[in-house]
Amino acid sequence: MKIDIITIFPEFFNPFLETSIIKRAIEQKIVSINAHQLRDYSKNKHKKVDDTPYGGGAGMLMTLQPLDDAITKLREKNSKVILLSPQGKKFTQKKAIKLAKESHIILICGHYEGIDARIENYIDEELSIGDYVLTGGEIPAMIVSDAVIRLVPGVIHEDSSEEDSLQNGWLKYPQYTKPNDYKGHLVPEVLLSGNHQEIMKWREEMRLKNTVLKRSDLLKNIKKSDVQAKKIEEIKSNSKKV
Ligand SMILES: C[S@@+](CC[C@H](N)C(=O)[O-])C[C@H]1O[C@@H](n2cnc3c(N)ncnc32)[C@H](O)[C@@H]1O
Repeated sequence: MKIDIITIFPEFFNPFLETSIIKRAIEQKIVSINAHQLRDYSKNKHKKVDDTPYGGGAGMLMTLQPLDDAITKLREKNSKVILLSPQGKKFTQKKAIKLAKESHIILICGHYEGIDARIENYIDEELSIGDYVLTGGEIPAMIVSDAVIRLVPGVIHEDSSEEDSLQNGWLKYPQYTKPNDYKGHLVPEVLLSGNHQEIMKWREEMRLKNTVLKRSDLLKNIKKSDVQAKKIEEIKSNSKKV
């Protein structure tokens, strides 16, 4: 997988690309990820990439010419060009799973007041990382890249992403590490039992419980078995009693 990021702050990405799992994925050549300076594509003699908005108003807008030229240079036959924007569709784990199957993603980071709206003619889609406005698309580009890269086969242990929260709609069960007694806070007995079957049963139950109690909004989008549906009702009615 290849990811190209178009930004006026490529240096923003240095620590992201040089740390931990992303660094290893790059070193192992599972992914290649590059941040490109948008100003390098500006035909303006001062390398300007912004201008005032027609109709007036506060702030500056990014102009089309440098973006058009950068996209044209980087785009390949199967590229997916994504604009990061608070106006886009919400980025989710489901979307990350889809994007992890792409061979080439181009991420465009806006800045200032955003980008000339005619950018829609040069992109494939617009993604938002949440309902709030950030100063630029660099953090959103890192979020999208990070969520996608860890799902590319070989980057992390696949069993680990398979059981992750949201991967199949559910939240993950709670996890604990040593010591088993920390200031009187104990690890559930079943996890110390060594009984694999009982542990699996407990984890399944806790996965449901976590989802019902922490993110019941997710339940409507999950296909449930009859056993799971019954268990969910049980958890809901028990939580009302507390
Ligand atoms: C200050 S914002 C521009 C917001 C724009 N004036 C609006 O109201 O829609 C500057 C840039 O930050 C990025 N950005 C801000 N919030 C974002 C979000 N929630 N998701 C993705 N990108 C975002 C976009 O690239 C955007 O062009």
